Amino acid sequence: MKKHDKIFVAGYKGLVGSAITKELKEKGYNNLILKGHKELDLSDSFAVSEFFSINKPDYVILAAAKVGGIYANNTYPVEFFTENMKIQLNVIENSYKYNVKKLLFLGSSCIYPKNAPQPLKEEYLLSSKLEKTNEMYALAKIGGLKLCDAYNREYGTDFISVMPCNLYGFNDNYHEQNAHVLPMLLKRFHDAKVSNAESVTVWGSGKPLREFMFAGDLARAVVYLMENKTAKDIGEIINIGTGEEISISELADLIKEVVGYKGKIVFDKTKPDGTMRKVMDISKINSLGFKAKTSLKEGIKKVYEDFCNNLTH
Ligand SMILES: NC(=O)c1ccc[n+]([C@@H]2O[C@H](COP(=O)([O-])OP(=O)(O)OC[C@H]3O[C@@H](n4cnc5c(N)ncnc54)[C@H](OP(=O)(O)O)[C@@H]3O)[C@@H](O)[C@H]2O)c1
Repeated sequence: MKKHDKIFVAGYKGLVGSAITKELKEKGYNNLILKGHKELDLSDSFAVSEFFSINKPDYVILAAAKVGGIYANNTYPVEFFTENMKIQLNVIENSYKYNVKKLLFLGSSCIYPKNAPQPLKEEYLLSSKLEKTNEMYALAKIGGLKLCDAYNREYGTDFISVMPCNLYGFNDNYHEQNAHVLPMLLKRFHDAKVSNAESVTVWGSGKPLREFMFAGDLARAVVYLMENKTAKDIGEIINIGTGEEISISELADLIKEVVGYKGKIVFDKTKPDGTMRKVMDISKINSLGFKAKTSLKEGIKKVYEDFCNNLTH
């Protein structure tokens, strides 16, 4: 990628898209095409086709998606499937039609089967049944990565699909029902500190093990792959993560410490734990020369500072 190449970052206002945009700008890429959802609805095939015909991007990073937590996924499976399929079809098809040199598609660890062995290896894709609560979202994502692979095989394109672990960072979603566990706990501990609450309730036993990556590190991995690797180097998909696990209870302790909350943590064991262990096998991305560098504590500190700054403005 040359510094003046046209790079379209779809979803540039989101958690992932904004981190990638920041990384590209910091590395000196100066011809980014940035259009938010309001300016360009990527599910509108006519609008996307017109956008590509006018802008003709050299590179595309597809970080736009309809994203939500278990509740939203379980309640609106039709919308999670159709909206994501439309976005992917429109962006991937037009990337081929307008000779995009490389496209990077963002998937997620939910594409792996519910009972796949841990750590999750790329080869476990489609080896057994998916988790029911987000099955339609996962099927849309699998459709996207398979379409990229099919274009590569049939038309010789260079379309890469990456599967990150749980991410956290700036511009995250702190919605009470929809947020992912880390931003949700961050907000709960912050609110409890401000209101001097006696305790903070955490869902489940606290025992499940999870993996969290700072979105800035994911962005470094994405730009690294865009600059240095092809779909041939990568294969059908590649995991991106830290390879480090932490229990929800240890995560709660860490967030409590960073936020400076002095009360108690209570585990509500009547609430579900979800999968007991979810961690990516990251040997492939490591062997291609990439490693995450932000520790969880360091990342949470950065995000909490940003969270507080945005509260006062
Ligand atoms: N967050 C994670 O932990 C995580 C982990 C693994 C993988 N990923 C993947 O990373 C990708 C991005 O996720 P994220 O966490 O960054 O989500 P996000 O913060 O919700 O960002 C998604 C962005 O896409 C935009 N968008 C949605 N529908 C659109 C449409 N029809 N047209 C144009 N723009 C549209 C959204 O705009 P509006 O908000 O205005 O609708 C938003 O800016 C997803 O594919 C997700 O699966 C995320």
